[in-house]
Amino acid sequence: MSEYIVTEQSLGLSGEVPLVGAKNSVLALTASLILTQGKSIITNVPSSLDVLQMVALLRDIGADVMFDKERHHLEVDTRGIASFEPRPEIMKKMRGSILLLGPLLSRFGKARVALPGGCLIGARPIDYHLRGLRKMGVVIEEDGRFLNASIHPGISQDHTRIVLEYPSVGATENIIMFAVVGKGETTIVNAAFEPEVFDLITMLRKMGAKIYCEPVSIIRIEGVSALSTVVHEVIPDRLEAGALLLATAITGGQIKLPDAQPDCMEMFLEKLRDMGHTIRIGEHGKGIELIAHPSPRCVDIKTYPYPGFPTDLQAPMMAAQATATGISIIEETIFENRMLHVKELQKMGAQISLEGSKAIVRGVDGLYGTEVVATDIRASCALVLAGLAAEGETTITGVHHWRRGYDFLERKLAKLGAKISLVTHTTLTEPLPQKIERGSEPQATI
Ligand code: UD1
Repeated sequence: MSEYIVTEQSLGLSGEVPLVGAKNSVLALTASLILTQGKSIITNVPSSLDVLQMVALLRDIGADVMFDKERHHLEVDTRGIASFEPRPEIMKKMRGSILLLGPLLSRFGKARVALPGGCLIGARPIDYHLRGLRKMGVVIEEDGRFLNASIHPGISQDHTRIVLEYPSVGATENIIMFAVVGKGETTIVNAAFEPEVFDLITMLRKMGAKIYCEPVSIIRIEGVSALSTVVHEVIPDRLEAGALLLATAITGGQIKLPDAQPDCMEMFLEKLRDMGHTIRIGEHGKGIELIAHPSPRCVDIKTYPYPGFPTDLQAPMMAAQATATGISIIEETIFENRMLHVKELQKMGAQISLEGSKAIVRGVDGLYGTEVVATDIRASCALVLAGLAAEGETTITGVHHWRRGYDFLERKLAKLGAKISLVTHTTLTEPLPQKIERGSEPQATI
């Protein structure tokens, strides 16, 4: 089966749409359920492919999982989990699968996991995860394809202090999930504080965990004897919110996102304001409205760990700079290979030159549609946004990246007035593609 997205210029997107939960949160939240015995319920769960992979991994190790994708409702009964060796074919499909390591080790005292896969946005090693776990008494052997990990029986675990060289989201989450049950006290210095990490901490606290956030950038965990099951609603996806706000900004429209959490995306909103767009925050600090400026200015962007400008919105923001007035310097500081969208945006007429990790974007009057390839999740978003602004038709391949990160976002864009179709060829021999128009049902790949 092959899939592609076709967009046409769609000026003035407007309307109001709900947000689904953050897929990056869900990966950690679902992994942490391995620490429990019983049925938990997670709501507001997106049905993006990465989440479906995590569901497949949980089922593979023995969990009983019911996922109602329409209602975004996930029930996981972990009593049947009997394996500490998730299938490598599933593990390798996404980097987030490494989040199983901490909880499996905690539950079984050992784990055998394949090295994870994911986007091509950099080397993305897992050395911080492993160094942290080793400090806590885990013996880990790597053979190039698998990690064999087990808790060393002779090592005291009264108090471990782990200093992360970089505030890695995944390493912080993995260490928290390992530390939270049955260990002594664990301190993570230079921990990541992304909203998705907080969502995990919030859920674990509801389950009985003792986790404390302390100055400066410290997370302290006091191990408890067991965690209870939980009912938890995932935080709204700030990256879906960002994509929708940028889609409106780039097409000169107006949008309301009643669910959005402005305090989770302040630097991003600041940059939109600097471009000239009007941003209104809803009552009690909830909800965002954007009214696009008809001729926005270019702004400079530099990605940083939270609360800095998120690397996951760098590529979509670049699409918006490509048609703004002036020059924008966009610097990627987190992933060394996260500029693959530049070449594709250039094909659409964007004036961008690359100097190492910096992209110099000279705003042009207009982009034009052509054939482009999405190379990672956020690149796929950048290309969809550029396609909505470009004259003519844009065809985007590499759609599985879009599916990995977004929960049918094309439907929400269509609701705002976007001319966007997801086209699916079910077999190579089938002569006519099945064209899926605005708002109708795209065929999921799993
Ligand atoms: C998570 C997000 C991803 C986001 C990223 C940064 C999930 C599923 N994914 O990815 O969408 O772009 O945070 O906000 O939540 N690093 C190491 N060694 C390690 C771990 C990380 O060198 O052991 C490096 C990475 O290569 C990268 C930087 O640290 O350069 C940040 O990575 P990290 O925060 O760990 O990102 P992920 O958890 O993979």
